[in-house]
This record gives sequence, structure tokens and C-alpha cells, in this order.
Amino acid sequence: MAAGSTDRKIDKLIDLLVKNATVVVPGPKIAEEIGVTRFKVFGWIENLRSLGVEIQGVLGEGYQLVTIPDILVPSLLRGELGDNPIGRHIIHYFRTDSTNAVALKLAAEGAEHGTVVVAEEQTAGRGRLGRVWFSEKSSGIYTSIILRPPLAPSAAPVLTLMAGLAAQKAVSAVTGLAVDIRWPNDLLVNGKKVCGILTEMSAEVDRLHAVVLGIGINVNHSLMPTKLENIATSLRMEAHRGISRVQVLVTLLREIERHYQLLLKGGNKAITERWEAASSFAHGKRVRVVTAAGEALATTTGVEPGGALKIQFDDGRTESLVAGEVVEVK
Ligand code: BTN
Repeated sequence: MAAGSTDRKIDKLIDLLVKNATVVVPGPKIAEEIGVTRFKVFGWIENLRSLGVEIQGVLGEGYQLVTIPDILVPSLLRGELGDNPIGRHIIHYFRTDSTNAVALKLAAEGAEHGTVVVAEEQTAGRGRLGRVWFSEKSSGIYTSIILRPPLAPSAAPVLTLMAGLAAQKAVSAVTGLAVDIRWPNDLLVNGKKVCGILTEMSAEVDRLHAVVLGIGINVNHSLMPTKLENIATSLRMEAHRGISRVQVLVTLLREIERHYQLLLKGGNKAITERWEAASSFAHGKRVRVVTAAGEALATTTGVEPGGALKIQFDDGRTESLVAGEVVEVK
């Protein structure tokens, strides 16, 4: 078991409560079935309540779920994922520093392709360009997926686009919202960011050992911190209703599987063509380009087969952007 990850017996406890959701399950029965003391069961029930899981305690009788919990434990996700390699192995944390840091460590220790790390809360969530990712407890999805693609390191930018495309399909399917993709893979709803992706990898010169797709989605935040409120939002704030994180994560993992297969079978073009069709940033978008070298105004002119964004600066120069970011200029 990965250090600090959720005890599998807690997962069993949730599974037991969900499967018996219509009845009150006696504490001693729970304790016996999962092989822990009644005192431990009581402690875990309290922990789950602190995460917003509504469990009714009936004095002298036992426990009953009030609603199906929206926490991202394997028992609530696995059943919906079938035999897909992505999500066959899910490691859950109530709290960790960064799921990407955990996943990179697991990948170095040999974790299999498709392993998913997910947390209810991150204390040091990493964003792109050295930023911090706001990771409020139980509101967002904080997940990292380990891929072992039979591809060269030059495929990394397309894998990044692939992840954004899959996330866009998943978020719009579950919420019905119109979701745009800003190169390389930020998801925007009504011009504000709802999802960011940090791709990290370990590679040799000609072979990728492992790629970690780190995905953060703002799902049920009811407001964003002041310093982010002009640039970020949540699915709940835009859809004006609560959104099932379980449903979003399951759909996301299925869409990543589907788009990964598209990439392996159809090559880079299968992804870049779909990406161009899905993003308003692909062609003719006025942007401020921010790179290590500075900032300049430009217009986008498409995506290279390798995943770079083609731009034409206002002074006429053209370039293919592989790193940095673009911001829409209105
Ligand atoms: C960005 O800056 O847009 C990328 C944000 C990526 C955040 C996710 S949350 C899950 C995973 N673990 C991390 O530490 N970061 C990524």
C-alpha cells in the first residue's frame, strides 16, 4: 500500500454502507465484516462526516447513509470503469501534499500503466510554471494518472493536448456546460479557468519511462479565493447546481482511455485535429504570449502535428510555441 493512502478497510466500510443504503447497519456487524473494532468504526464514521458524508447514527441500532457519498474512493469509482487499464488500480488519499509527487514516486517504483492517484485535499498542489494549485478539501478533483506510452519523449506535448481534450469531453458531458480549451490544456467556462493540467515525466533520450498527467478540476467550490476570482471559477458556480465529483472523475478516466487509444492508433494527427476543432484558441485568437523571454501580442494560426501552437506576432514574425502560456486579448 502506498504510504499514507486511505486504509482499504475504510473503502470497505463505505462500500458496505452504500450496498446497505436502505437499512440501518449495526455497528458490531460493520466491525466484524471489515475486521476492526467498533471503536475504530466510530472514528472512521466521524472522519467521513467531516468530509461531508451524511451518515445517520441510530442510537443502539447502527449507521445508515443519508445520501450516496461523493468521495473519490475506489469502491465508488471502480464499478463504473470496467476493464479499462486506466483506473484498474486507484490509490486514494484523504490528504496528501501533491498527487503528482506521489504518482512520480510510484512510477519510479514501477507502478503499472493506468495507475490513478486521487486525493480529497492537497497541501502542496503543484501548478504549471511553478505556481501553486488551490486544492480545497472535498470541493475539487485532484488526480494524477500514470501512463507508460510506447512513444518517444517528443510525444509529451501531444499527450498534454490529449489530456486537455479528454477533460473537456468529460466536463461538458457531465455538466452540459460549454467548455473551451486554452493552449495547451486549461479548460475555461465563460472565460474562466475550471481545470488545469500539469504533465510531468521521466524519460531517457529515446523512450518515455512514465508520464504523469496531473489534473485539477474546480468542481463544487461555492466561491474562489479573492486573488483567483477574476480568472478562475468552479463547475458548480457556472452550472448553478452541485456536480457529482464521482461522475466527473469516472467520465474523465474513461475519456482519457478513449483518447489515449485514439493517439496510439491514429497518431498525433488524431489528437491535434480534434484539439483544433475543440478549442477557440487554435485559429485566429488574439493573445498575449507569455514566455521566459517576455511578453508579446500575437494571433494564433493552428497547432503543429507535434503539439506546438503556431502564432504570428504583431511584428510579422512567426513561431511555434512549445512552452509558456497564452492569454486571450479582447
Ligand atoms: C495548472 O497550473 O494549470 C496545472 C494544475 C495542475 C493541478 C493538478 S491537481 C492534481 C495534480 N497534483 C498536483 O500537484 N498538480 C496536479
